[in-house]
Amino acid sequence: MAAVSPEMNFDIGLVNTIVARSSLSWIDGLNGVLEYVGYDIDDLARHSTFEETTFLLWNRRLPSRSELDAFNAQIRSEYDLPEAMWDMIVSLPRDASPMHALRTLVSALALHDLHADAPDENERKSLAMLAKMPALIAGFDRHRKGLDVIRPTGDCCISESFLRMMRDEEPTERMARAMDVCLILHADHGFNASTFAALVTIATLSDMYSAITTAIGTLKGPLHGGANQGVMLMLEEIGHIEAAEKFVLGRLANRERIMGFGHRVYKAYDPRATYLKSFSKGIAEDTGNLDLFEMSSRIEQIMEREVGAKGIFPNVDFYSATTYFSLGLDLDLFTPVFAMSRVSGWTAHCLEYLTDNRLIRPRCEYNGPHGQSYVPINQR
Ligand code: COA
Repeated sequence: MAAVSPEMNFDIGLVNTIVARSSLSWIDGLNGVLEYVGYDIDDLARHSTFEETTFLLWNRRLPSRSELDAFNAQIRSEYDLPEAMWDMIVSLPRDASPMHALRTLVSALALHDLHADAPDENERKSLAMLAKMPALIAGFDRHRKGLDVIRPTGDCCISESFLRMMRDEEPTERMARAMDVCLILHADHGFNASTFAALVTIATLSDMYSAITTAIGTLKGPLHGGANQGVMLMLEEIGHIEAAEKFVLGRLANRERIMGFGHRVYKAYDPRATYLKSFSKGIAEDTGNLDLFEMSSRIEQIMEREVGAKGIFPNVDFYSATTYFSLGLDLDLFTPVFAMSRVSGWTAHCLEYLTDNRLIRPRCEYNGPHGQSYVPINQR
């Protein structure tokens, strides 16, 4: 019996299927290039800000000074949460995982938006989620630690505001910049699993809150956004630089993976890791975590010697783990922070896809039985 029409492509995991066109990010895995709207990621990481990069993704051009000032002001005016959301944060179970909390809280934002379903307000809703996510993450983290939540003041950029709410102190310039660089580097990456999941939801003409809630649930998986946490667990397991060689060689001999190395698309140095590596050194030095950075560099040298020829290099997660740890973030906050950045790309792709929307509805090849006779339950 014919499964599906013969011209259909059987492609588990959609590895070889292009499902749409997009002008947001371009990835050249063989040469290690990532561009957002044609701008090299390394250039953006060195010179741009997360807010400017988001403007670029949403508008597909860089802003003028006055446009950026207005955009920043708009974002800052949306930092604070409705009172009921603060109440909700402090009512969540303290032992809940921050990703479950974030997914629930982003979904709940729709309850306080009278126009949650208005399609002509998608940009406003995108901006609201981008602006409010830091307060949701920091608020829940303080609540679970038994600390009072700290409200955003709206007088600084997203990265600084987030660190202030987390730590209840002014971050140094380098800390805020390190946070900002991480947000820029994670903002978009083509049709990755969570972006695709957001598109499946928005393509049904559901609403932006639902699309981003879907994306957060998808990012949470260890095969996607959870890898940076895995890097830190591995570094903790190794413990000190002298143990690195034995650990790495032992893992490779057992054909086990070294977390933070290798990438499905990049077979050259992950372009997001280049600048982050130099930046993570400075921030590790400032915060008394230089040992961690030096151990990471040692692991990189060993890996380059052992498997560099196979095209396995550090990916973005490898040095972001050291950076987040140096910024004082708990391991289970690494993925929520990834979401706080990627919401920029998720919403950009949703807005772009809606300009020429088509329901995403693939087919499966049925491999079950046919023609079975129904037997009443009392005769089975
Ligand atoms: N450590 C050691 N060896 C690795 C490796 C790693 N992190 N990543 C890939 N390899 C090796 C594989 O063992 C395989 O070797 P072989 O050809 O001798 O069998 C070869 O490289 C190709 O691996 P493959 O699984 O086909 O690559 P992939 O493109 O499917 O895998 C990842 C990509 C990301 C899943 C993989 O590199 C990985 O598991 N990395 C660790 C987890 C991680 O950091 N994930 C975050 C990605 S941003």
